[in-house]
Amino acid sequence: MEVIILKNATEVAERSARIVCDTVNKKPNTVLGLATGSTPVAMYKEMINANKEGKVSFKQMRTFNLDEYVGLDPSHHQSYRTFMNENLFNDIDIDIDNTQVPPGNLENPMEAGPYYEDLIAKAGGIDLQILGIGTNGHIGFNEPTSSLASRTRVKTLTETTVKDNSRFFKEGEFQPTLSITMGIKTILETKRVLLLATGKNKAKAIADAIEGPMAGRCPASALQMHEHTTFIIDEDAASQLEMKEYYKYVLGFQDNLIDKFGDSRGV
Ligand code: F6R
Repeated sequence: MEVIILKNATEVAERSARIVCDTVNKKPNTVLGLATGSTPVAMYKEMINANKEGKVSFKQMRTFNLDEYVGLDPSHHQSYRTFMNENLFNDIDIDIDNTQVPPGNLENPMEAGPYYEDLIAKAGGIDLQILGIGTNGHIGFNEPTSSLASRTRVKTLTETTVKDNSRFFKEGEFQPTLSITMGIKTILETKRVLLLATGKNKAKAIADAIEGPMAGRCPASALQMHEHTTFIIDEDAASQLEMKEYYKYVLGFQDNLIDKFGDSRGV
């Protein structure tokens, strides 16, 4: 795993957006996996600016979001479809038909998982997956003790997650407690992962994910088995890492090697 520790959230947004734009410039029909939540919003703004400045085009890009609430219509103000439209899709040159969010409003939500897995497979798999991380270590809505071999399915949210996300709902408003989420195995099958984290409230989850034992208790720790994962985090989120100085030291060597010989690890 690569661990890139940057000064602050702005640098995290700039660095991660640069990787996304470079990937899309290299492969215009990139299949990009996307996340919602607060963390990637600044990166999405960078992508919008790069697009407006003509530095990248997303016309051929296809996207798959990680998760969606069960029981919200896509047009609901808190659906993840609305979130993506408002924070990215409406402001870039993407073809909206090329964007997918798990269907949270099927009469039978159990059908959503196999349907979504099939869509991903037909697109040829995900080239680059963006992830945030929950304060409890979740990725997507794979809550602690999720199977490390799970696929897209209905998942019950923990009380912590419901509480963390209650800030987005008005008082007294229906807040879903079920979601459709890509599974951990679905995420492990993506070609490259960028996990973004900022702020002290993510420090424990980040330490467990990178340096803890691989365990369902911290779903993000499953990324230790992923071939090409890059954690892009700020100093606050890195504050509980025991080997922080080593990661910084490694990066200096790696950046030099990549400058000199290029990056042969695909996307
Ligand atoms: C969102 C998602 C979640 C968030 C996580 C962090 O699609 O899958 O795993 O990435 O809950 O959320 P923020 O960024 O709001 O702290």
